[in-house]
Amino acid sequence: MGRLLQFEIFRYNPEEKGSTPHMQSFVLEETANMTLFIVLNRLREEQDPGLIFDFCCRAGICGSCAMVINGRPGLACQTKTADLPEQITLLPLPVFKLIGDLSVDTGVWFREMYQKTESWIHTNKVFDPTKEEERMDNAVAEQIYELERCVECGCCIAACGTARMRDDFLGAASLNRVARFVIDPRDQRTDKEYFEIIGNDYGIFGCMGLLACEDVCPKKLPLQNQLGFLRRKMGITALKQIFRR
Ligand code: SF4
Ligand code: SF4
Ligand code: FES
Repeated sequence: MGRLLQFEIFRYNPEEKGSTPHMQSFVLEETANMTLFIVLNRLREEQDPGLIFDFCCRAGICGSCAMVINGRPGLACQTKTADLPEQITLLPLPVFKLIGDLSVDTGVWFREMYQKTESWIHTNKVFDPTKEEERMDNAVAEQIYELERCVECGCCIAACGTARMRDDFLGAASLNRVARFVIDPRDQRTDKEYFEIIGNDYGIFGCMGLLACEDVCPKKLPLQNQLGFLRRKMGITALKQIFRR
């Protein structure tokens, strides 16, 4: 017989009249190679069909199953119960809008942040479909690809002290996205233009640098390097502007 796992799960449905936030206990016997994805589906099928949570890919790709697992943001589909104690507490990610129980809306948050940071290639070049495609240096392409691996799960935002205190803070995922455009040779924005977007307290200077974001990122993105890179770049840009006055 496997371990008897005791779950404490946050329950609250803002859409349901009379619903109030509370923790609900569940017990489930552990099976081989059990993940929290399996647990939540079994709890919904066998014990409470009203349990709300999100999943799409079950493979750490869509980012939709992020939640706070025993105090730490992580992906439920990538978390094995064998790596957890018998008592397991599941909470929805903070910062994002709660949909119900363990489900939050990360999509609206990411769309707003990407609009704020103008998260697309800025270029004056006119596309000519008859011309041969411009080549990019392999090393640069790989560096961009590395940063593009973000699955927008929101774990780095949920773990971030600044994001918890200020709802206008861009957070590590958006700053990582800005770094991705800074290194992209097709983007013609200047350092001064990037400074207008992230050279302030809701951008790179609001970051406290304690790196909970990198600690919890399930895709192991090099967030520390990107935050350091942007801080140096924006610091130099600020100094240049002061001494030009
Ligand atoms: S290092 Fe910066 S972005 Fe990362 S968790 Fe800390 S304050 Fe947030
Ligand atoms: S940077 Fe990592 S933790 Fe943050 S949203 Fe992307 S994949 Fe998730
Ligand atoms: S279900 Fe897609 S990342 Fe977990």
